[in-house]
Amino acid sequence: METSRRDLLGLAIGGLGLVGVAGVLYPLLKTLAPSASSLAGAKVEVDGSQIPEGQVRVVSWKGKPVFVVHLPQNFQWPGKTKETDNYKLLQGQPLYALVAVCTHLGCVPLWKPQGEAEYNYPVFHCPCHGGFYSPWGDNIAGPPPRPLHVPPQKVEGTKLIIGEPGFVKELT
Ligand code: FES
Repeated sequence: METSRRDLLGLAIGGLGLVGVAGVLYPLLKTLAPSASSLAGAKVEVDGSQIPEGQVRVVSWKGKPVFVVHLPQNFQWPGKTKETDNYKLLQGQPLYALVAVCTHLGCVPLWKPQGEAEYNYPVFHCPCHGGFYSPWGDNIAGPPPRPLHVPPQKVEGTKLIIGEPGFVKELT
């Protein structure tokens, strides 16, 4: 009799504990779910006329840093590109966006318009382990295994709209 009462008490306390844990966890998990404001960031408009030619701006899209690249007219790049590169997707576009997360271990590469190391032409350089990318985000040297991710995007006048399919429809 004693034992079963103690068991019941134990169960009751255990049950209370569970309710307590749920009470603490629920608000915690709620804060981890995407908030309305971060979902609203699913489409970002950038006015390319505010970015000088040859320069790059970093904006936030879906919580990620994104490069907006504004290449000069008739930009020529002396490096090499491959068939599978972002270049195929982005060639001829003076204004485009790339997710600014290195495909090696996730650092944010740096835009080097004057070049870096053996490259005396514009490249992105990842300072973490020495990865190099072309201006279109193609991995050209170092440990990165893939080009930078290209988000869906379209151009309207001088505006680049990131997150809306256009000249890039699919995520690559
Ligand atoms: S994280 Fe960029 S090279 Fe390693």
